[in-house]
Amino acid sequence: MSGVNDIRSTFLDYFRKEGHEIVASSPLVPRNDPTLMFTNAGMVQFKNVFTGLEKRPYSRASTAQKSVRAGGKHNDLDNVGYTARHLTFFEMLGNFSFGDYFKERAIELAWNLITKDFGLPKDKLLVTVYHTDDEAAGYWKKIAGFSDDRIIRIPTSDNFWAMGDTGPCGPCSEIFIDRGEHIWGGPPGTPEEDGDRFLEFWNLVFMQYEQVTKDERIDLPRPSIDTGLGLERMASILQGVESVFETDLFKHLIDAASSALGHGPGEENVGSFRVIADHLRSSSFLVADGVLPSNEGRGYVLRRIMRRAMRHAQLLGAKEPLMWQLVPALVREMGQAYPELVRGEALITETLKLEETRFRRRWCAVSACFRRRRSSSTPATCWTARRPSSCMTPTASRSI
Ligand code: SER
Repeated sequence: MSGVNDIRSTFLDYFRKEGHEIVASSPLVPRNDPTLMFTNAGMVQFKNVFTGLEKRPYSRASTAQKSVRAGGKHNDLDNVGYTARHLTFFEMLGNFSFGDYFKERAIELAWNLITKDFGLPKDKLLVTVYHTDDEAAGYWKKIAGFSDDRIIRIPTSDNFWAMGDTGPCGPCSEIFIDRGEHIWGGPPGTPEEDGDRFLEFWNLVFMQYEQVTKDERIDLPRPSIDTGLGLERMASILQGVESVFETDLFKHLIDAASSALGHGPGEENVGSFRVIADHLRSSSFLVADGVLPSNEGRGYVLRRIMRRAMRHAQLLGAKEPLMWQLVPALVREMGQAYPELVRGEALITETLKLEETRFRRRWCAVSACFRRRRSSSTPATCWTARRPSSCMTPTASRSI
């Protein structure tokens, strides 16, 4: 049951049996929401249901939501490749209650799923709660039998979730697993919390408020629930690997990159392979949802993601544009769950190929310029020079 595709269906089947409507992922470009760059969580498509503006024929729902955190309030772009857990594109598995159950049932549902269906070891689990949330702490004690030291109270915004500067928000409770002393890191709230030892994998948000403006927060019409479990993180736990990049799905993408490059990852360059695999997913899903690389707005963020991957392809010695060659592997891995990838395959391929061809040409010109400058009399105009795309030895380190 530990393959990424199986974990996704186990989650959705569990909540279906618990009376939740299974709702399809919404697109990465939020409909009618200028406050958000990309869909960054499962609750985005339900924002107006939480605030009472929109009614649905169900009061419980569950989704596997495509999410991108590469711009705006939640942005993990610069972490990707350097930690075991950050991704720009990920799937967020969630269950939602719109004025139906609240804290106690949400905690009970989560606890039963992770300890029974997923079989996680109870003694390795711990949670955080917002520092004033005695109610949530009490339910964790009652339902999970946790002692006080495994219910960590956090006074910061880490335990008060908001989708952006405005919108529904509320205190939250995060579930962590201790992956063992051999991994560096400390429990949440300690100076070592950014390490990978204590992995947060599920966030239960007790939606109670709406942030209307920077200074005004009102109560939601009915207290609600929004949870988000990182599918890739859960896969890394269930597959017994230390990083999301070692899970089955990412392994296949990294294998595809290795065959195209003619060599696999080593200790010194594994980060580049990881960046490529992650950015392949975010770029392809964004193009499938109608974003194209450009110099402004969403298109600019997409271009930054693509070029960061392409820069790493250069560092790995790619002699030809690489990213487009990996699209079939991505479609094989994720096309069944997300048919828009299959429908968009030709567009994704062409977009990646064109962008990387341009990027390599520009990179070549810049590299040639640096080389000429080093040999002294180079005119400034060399920045716009064009060289054949076969010239491929990056000499300058630039951050894309
Ligand atoms: N909205 C919350 C989060 O993104 C829970 O889904 O963490």
